[in-house]
Amino acid sequence: MSTEPRYITTPIYYVNDRPHIGHIYTTTICDIWAKFQRLTGQDVFFLTGTDEHGVKVEQSAAERGVSPQALADEVSKVFHGALKEFDLSNDAFIRTTDPQHETQVQQFVKRLMDSGDVYLGTFEGWYDAGQEEYYTETKAREANYISPISGKPLERAEEQNYYFRLSAYQSRLEQLFEDRPDLVRPEARRNEVLGRLREGLQDVPVSRTNFTWGIHMPDAPEHVIYVWIDALFNYITALGLGDPSSDWYAERHRYWPASMQIIGKEILWFHAVIWPALLMALELPLPHCIYAHSFWISEGKKMSKSMGNFIDLETLQQYVDTYSRDGLRFYLATQGPLGATDADFSRSQFHDVYTTELVNTLGNCASRTSAMIGKYCGGQCPTDTGACAGGGIEWDSFTQTQMETAIAAMNRFDLPGSISAAMAIVRQVDAFINETAPFKLAKDPANAEQVGNILYRCAESIRIAACLLEATLPEHVAELRTAWNLGAATNDLTSQCAWGQLKPGTDINKVALFPRVDEAS
Ligand code: MSP
Repeated sequence: MSTEPRYITTPIYYVNDRPHIGHIYTTTICDIWAKFQRLTGQDVFFLTGTDEHGVKVEQSAAERGVSPQALADEVSKVFHGALKEFDLSNDAFIRTTDPQHETQVQQFVKRLMDSGDVYLGTFEGWYDAGQEEYYTETKAREANYISPISGKPLERAEEQNYYFRLSAYQSRLEQLFEDRPDLVRPEARRNEVLGRLREGLQDVPVSRTNFTWGIHMPDAPEHVIYVWIDALFNYITALGLGDPSSDWYAERHRYWPASMQIIGKEILWFHAVIWPALLMALELPLPHCIYAHSFWISEGKKMSKSMGNFIDLETLQQYVDTYSRDGLRFYLATQGPLGATDADFSRSQFHDVYTTELVNTLGNCASRTSAMIGKYCGGQCPTDTGACAGGGIEWDSFTQTQMETAIAAMNRFDLPGSISAAMAIVRQVDAFINETAPFKLAKDPANAEQVGNILYRCAESIRIAACLLEATLPEHVAELRTAWNLGAATNDLTSQCAWGQLKPGTDINKVALFPRVDEAS
């Protein structure tokens, strides 16, 4: 079993907003990946956190009459609490107000000043004040000089500031995207980046003087480091890369470069262009993959508080109360906007997916199998002696293939693909039960051996499917483990999925994993 450091990150979330489905989604899909990798024995580090500096936080705090630090403390705690509530297994939670982060950011910026990658200069351009982002002339024109995010006009702005010499990285970035077609995914997002790159790169500001809530430039404290530069560095400050004498470095530096940096599509440019260029300038290795998912909309429309379709933590909690935490994880992972198109979070679709996949397929199959073992085999796992009616299927090689597919899909962050490979095992079991009809065979005691053989295959296949689904449905798989006496999960998924681990004679208790839910609830 090989153990490799694997590092996965979410964006760090702004503290001027409360957590909602978008944040929970990104963190949940990272959590599923992290749990899955841990189950395969990898040495995983999963990072999330909060982005606490900048004009927006300063303004929100002023509006509420509190200090920016007080606002950051309060909201960061809410994000932190949400992680616990949704059982998300991050290994660390970085805050950009952590002193360890702040001093390392200054170190990195100092290094960039020394190398000439950061210089003092003047800049003029179209500025989206809400997003704190400059637009190229073409992009500004395409947007009709209006922010597509806030709907407010872009402003013409000029600044005397420190700049990062992004333009110097144009050809190296072009070469990079050519050499590493899988760096930015999915493909549609990569093409978007390439298109914009062709327009040519401008240098980007790394400091501002129009606000004070942030990290000060080394040697020029009237300049505050631009929130995006500050924030991007979180991925490496959390590993202590800017301070080799720190504990963070000692414990975590092995995780760089990141395996997966998961973001939403709206922050692609920062992550796919500015971030790699900063890393190149610091002579640090680049992440293996930057994956930009699309957005959830809600009941067919963009989520908005005034439209009443906003999915906040309380709404998500209601889904959890009705359909369980695993039900929510399954829905997010299988129906979410992982590809290049947005996904619709709809109450009726949620209900249908839960009912079809979890109640009628996984839950029903496990309950049918355990009920029959209870009835025909005295509640104990039968022995498979080989003779079996119907179903020419080679279960050992079939489950092995599904396992390989599930692992390979998860490694490329294809969560729906991985889950569907596991669910295919369950469907096959269902079809096998229908085809061989052990409940009919059992009427004649002469068929006892065959019935046992069939039910062994069913139970063993469900066990393997459950192991593959454990990262997505941890609570329910734990329930199955207890009911079927399967022992605790190990970190060796491949051997756990080997055919024949289920020992004849084991007590197999009846399970009802996913209760049916009334649509109206
Ligand atoms: N602080 C920056 C990121 C800095 S990373 C160095 C930021 N924060 S945010 O609070 O606005 O969070 C944005 C992220 O939340 C998105 O990139 C995405 O991961 C998630 N989502 C927010 N709304 C979303 C949807 N409606 N749908 C899916 N995910 C979205 O940007």
